Amino acid sequence: MGGVSKSAGFRVIGRLVGMPVATWIGVALLALVGAGLAACATGADRGEDSGAASGVSAVEASAGAARGAELYATHCASCHGASGEGQANWRTQNADGSYPAPPHDRTGHTWHHSDALLLELIRDGGGRYESATFKSRMPAFGDRLNEADRLAVLAFLKTLWGPDERRQQAEVSPPRR
Ligand code: HEC
Repeated sequence: MGGVSKSAGFRVIGRLVGMPVATWIGVALLALVGAGLAACATGADRGEDSGAASGVSAVEASAGAARGAELYATHCASCHGASGEGQANWRTQNADGSYPAPPHDRTGHTWHHSDALLLELIRDGGGRYESATFKSRMPAFGDRLNEADRLAVLAFLKTLWGPDERRQQAEVSPPRR
């Protein structure tokens, strides 16, 4: 990462000076959830390109990601890793037909799936995909996490991706109504 060029940096600072306190808090919050989500929020504010915007709205994303991080630490990190790095050799099937938990960061394939599919998997678990040759270790969270919780966790998962992954995943996820 090269950092912001000097003149661009000064221009940004120039714009930040003179902002009301509320705006500063907003800027700080957006910085927390990551530049990519901040970019989404700006796009949504301008009302542009909603088709390509994240299926989780910008408001849900910024408010939800912080709560989602807590839920993730409690319910998901034991298998998927504290930073979403997954378990070792996650592509290699275990002797019992199950797989280790995959990463949720950009090295995994969570971002290949639509919001709808991911939310369903978190709610119902992987049981329905089991077969003679595949056993799932992904638990169902429908009884422990309500819909708002599941959306928050999904918003957090999106912070583990880069802008490219977010953009590609948004393309397979039409905006929710
Ligand atoms: C007991 C271990 C375990 C826990 C806890 C767990 N998972 Fe999983 N998860 C897995 C495994 C293993 C898979 C791989 C698919 C399978 O085996 O069904 C998986 C798959 C997934 C996938 C699909 C990823 C992909 O690339 O297709 C998502 C999304 C997911 N988990 C989200 C979560 C969330 C969110 C939580 C917490 C609320 C969670 N998981 C908790 C084990 C776990």
